[in-house]
Amino acid sequence: MALGLALLCAGAAAGAQTMMNVPARKATSLNGYWNNIIDPYGHGNGNYMRDRTFDGTRLQDYDFDTSTELRVPGDWNTQNPKYYYYEGIMWYRTKFNYDLTPGNRLFVHFEAANYKTSVWVNGRLAGEHEGGYTGFEYEITSLLRPGQENSLVVRVNNQRLPDGVPTMNTDWWNYGGITRSVYLVETAPTFIYDYSVQLSKDRTKIEGWIRLKGDDVAAKDVQLAIPELKINNTYKTGADGIATFSLKAKPELWSPESPRLYDVAVQFGSESISDRIGFRTIETKGDKILLNGKEVFLAGINLHEETVGDSRRANCKEDDVKLLTLAKELGCNFVRLAHYPHNADMTRTADELGLMVWSEIPLYWGINWRNEGTYTLAVQQLTEMISRDRNRASIIIWSIANETSVNAERTAFLSKLAGEARSLDGTRLISAALQNVNKQLAPNLYTVEDPLHEALDLFSFNEYIGWYDATKEACDVIEWSLPADKPIVISEFGGGGRRGRHSGPDAYFSEDNMVDLYRHQFIMLGKIKGLAGTIPWVLKDFRSPHRVLQGIQDDFNRKGIYDDKGRKKEVWNVLKEWNDAHR
Ligand code: GCU
Repeated sequence: MALGLALLCAGAAAGAQTMMNVPARKATSLNGYWNNIIDPYGHGNGNYMRDRTFDGTRLQDYDFDTSTELRVPGDWNTQNPKYYYYEGIMWYRTKFNYDLTPGNRLFVHFEAANYKTSVWVNGRLAGEHEGGYTGFEYEITSLLRPGQENSLVVRVNNQRLPDGVPTMNTDWWNYGGITRSVYLVETAPTFIYDYSVQLSKDRTKIEGWIRLKGDDVAAKDVQLAIPELKINNTYKTGADGIATFSLKAKPELWSPESPRLYDVAVQFGSESISDRIGFRTIETKGDKILLNGKEVFLAGINLHEETVGDSRRANCKEDDVKLLTLAKELGCNFVRLAHYPHNADMTRTADELGLMVWSEIPLYWGINWRNEGTYTLAVQQLTEMISRDRNRASIIIWSIANETSVNAERTAFLSKLAGEARSLDGTRLISAALQNVNKQLAPNLYTVEDPLHEALDLFSFNEYIGWYDATKEACDVIEWSLPADKPIVISEFGGGGRRGRHSGPDAYFSEDNMVDLYRHQFIMLGKIKGLAGTIPWVLKDFRSPHRVLQGIQDDFNRKGIYDDKGRKKEVWNVLKEWNDAHR
């Protein structure tokens, strides 16, 4: 078995991933309004909250039946002004009835909850998870009360933690809550857990595997069907429950210009899981990025997982289509999903619209590199990200970090993690947004000295010349001394501007200044040898606790090409021109 698969098996065993493609299964949505109780002092515990109903005889502090409600999925910050800045524990409770087919299994599956989550069913702990942007699930077959109403109580704590991933300081809003969908999933005793269906690196075969989970996984027949390619094959699982396949095929290739997806069905017994999968290859050759063997330029944009208009955590296809459509209109063929894995519909929508994707785990800024538990958590989140999205053609880059200061512990931590990523998925590029250490070799000669890049496939770094560093005009004469044997990607650049604020090109936060800054930036970037991608910061203005400047920021980072309502700023025209000339 490939090392990657072995790691995935370990990941699955450790609970560091979930069954694949839940909406395509026998899944019952638990989305809706759940009762909630705020608990800033952490006074509630599994006893108080997990299943208490007001019995009318004793005074008590908590009663779900008479409490307020929160929409699930949804962050709490934007649902109630009292919760806007809230960082702490929130309790949720919903009730459900479920008629489980005798002998079958029942799981409760969360697409994400931020940040630490504990789950009780009928007063008994089902499981706990750390991490705000990846899925988790627990088998609840033995906790279910057949033929009765069941209570599902969830404790979510979004407090930032020194050893967390991310940790104490982020330039985005700490949206707390059950931020993505929740499902009950019924399965047979042995069922399809996950699968990989991808194009071989030489583009002549479709290869991958199907993995069963359960007590009787060996020597079982599983089927792969791709009707348009006249594929309908049966394979036998090994003792580990995995069936691998490699079959000659010449599918139409997926690309931003032609985002061709195929209906794929993976079957076991009466179970059939349908998916939509694109086939493409991605690789580097010297300082070039090759998509399907042809050089491609990443005309990109960064975006947070935050909706247009009401600026809340995006959590559904409709939210994602609005965001990615703005990127397409901007002439982009690429998006960086900053700084954490976005919801599953975001990458599926990128597959459909034709946008290549950089997907990232939130090892952001001041991580505690010395802490073994932090490394374990990073591996868990990396495994969860890769195992959920390994069949998404749009994803070409897995990123392991953003703007992390260079030191021995950090470089050891991330170099090891890059190896972990490569062994989990050897088909995609591994990157990180390096920090522009702003090292000047001469007055107008800059470089980025970071040994981590030896472990990466791209040389990607953030630079803010003209905003945080130097002046806009300095861009015209700045040169860069960068590695010649790797594609160079500018993973962030830009500056702020309040839409509608026009007070001349030198006025701070004016639109005129943004336009001027981008024009100067493009003079500099256009001179970089081996430049293979540009990813301006950022698609739209987004909420951040750092950005309080009254009347200009008002809790929003204003570096967006669109404002928070999705309205274009004048800089949109400058960036569109660059993208059209480069993609
Ligand atoms: C950094 C960081 C972003 C941040 C941006 C900014 O590069 O990666 O998360 O929002 O700068 O300062 O606006």
